[in-house]
Amino acid sequence: MRTAHAKILSIGLLVSVLGGLYLVAVKKHAERDALRQAAVALTPACKEKLHDYALAPGERYRSPYLLKRTGSSRTLRGYSEDDVRAIERGCNVFDDVQGQLAKNGPRERWYASRFVRGTQTTCVHCHQRVGDKQDAAGNRLVGSNGLGASWVMADMYDRFTGMLLPHEFRQMQCYINSSNGFKPNSADDVIRDVTAYSRFLAAALDLKIGNRYPEQGMDEIPASATLRRGDDYVRGAYLFRHKCASCHGPQALGTVADGRVLYPALAGPNSFSLDSRMNFAKVNTVMSGFICRNMPVGEEGSLANQDCRDIAYYVSTLPRPAGDLQGPLVAAWQQLMMTVMPPLTLYAETLARSDTMHARN
Ligand code: HEC
Ligand code: HEC
Repeated sequence: MRTAHAKILSIGLLVSVLGGLYLVAVKKHAERDALRQAAVALTPACKEKLHDYALAPGERYRSPYLLKRTGSSRTLRGYSEDDVRAIERGCNVFDDVQGQLAKNGPRERWYASRFVRGTQTTCVHCHQRVGDKQDAAGNRLVGSNGLGASWVMADMYDRFTGMLLPHEFRQMQCYINSSNGFKPNSADDVIRDVTAYSRFLAAALDLKIGNRYPEQGMDEIPASATLRRGDDYVRGAYLFRHKCASCHGPQALGTVADGRVLYPALAGPNSFSLDSRMNFAKVNTVMSGFICRNMPVGEEGSLANQDCRDIAYYVSTLPRPAGDLQGPLVAAWQQLMMTVMPPLTLYAETLARSDTMHARN
């Protein structure tokens, strides 16, 4: 009798737990559906980009970019209202992963902030101009990590993992590699919407599937592209202080004002991890290429290849979070370094400064 009671009780418990989980799932699905139907408030950069490319629901789509560049344009299949909202949300996520520009913060970004660590990261810090960087004349720029060009590459052999990765997986990887974060599920709305936006960029720019365009990926700078073929820490530190610290901060911890990231962290807990391809110590050609093409803002292209390699080398020695591959010991060590190094460096610098004062007196 007692065992029968216990049995009924445990089955009842199991059913109510599973039923509860089911109801939670139903509620979450309903919430997601409501978000998919809701009108989208665009970030300023997305508003400008999508307006320039005349995104609107309709039977047909004609790209104003193509018309302006070539004098003629092709008529493509248009976008439904659902498509348009997905593209808009994708652009928003890419521009503002953490929802800092949104009224309803993380909710409007599919809670994408759960996939990144720190409070500063967003995709456009490295994929500039919302993944579609152009010069004043509208030319797409070599090695500018373009999102449309990435989408049309479709499957791509990845030289780091040795795997064939579709665009969605390359997005997933970038959450880990470049944002020090966690992999979203490949069917998550976060990935689907950014893919919708990438695909729209490809249509607006008239990129053809299967082709490789020069704006895909980073414009890398190997050691062989310099005369010296070695990287100089002291020179890198000097150049960083004079060319970069005014924006990114003396310790490269970034500059934030009123909760808005003005200049992103290149080191410390808000930065990319040891595993990131942006980290020189991991892949020593990518960050140097990024710096030479894109930094300092306002004086892009002013640095020599050797300068960019030296600066990237120096930046890679600053403390930053461990990546997935390093294990708990390295993670703890990096945590310690991120805590003790900034105040120590600051103290050493004050000593050095008072030394020079004494020497002068
Ligand atoms: C710290 C810099 C950084 C941040 C932040 C960043 N990325 Fe990346 N991204 C890179 C680098 C570096 C690559 C690799 C480029 C290469 O290998 O040529 C890359 C590659 C990619 C690719 C593949 C591009 C291609 O053509 O193969 C996609 C897609 C991508 N990132 C999406 C994202 C998304 C989505 C986010 C925001 C969650 C993001 N990235 C944030 C630096 C960054
Ligand atoms: C005038 C301000 C300014 C200066 C000077 C500057 N940067 Fe930046 N940097 C930015 C901004 C703003 C971004 C974010 C990208 C964007 O909005 O275009 C950025 C982004 C970056 C990124 C990628 C962001 C990330 O999340 O990792 C790196 C790396 C970087 N800068 C390195 C440098 C280096 C190295 C120098 C010195 C040669 C430098 N920057 C000088 C403003 C500046």
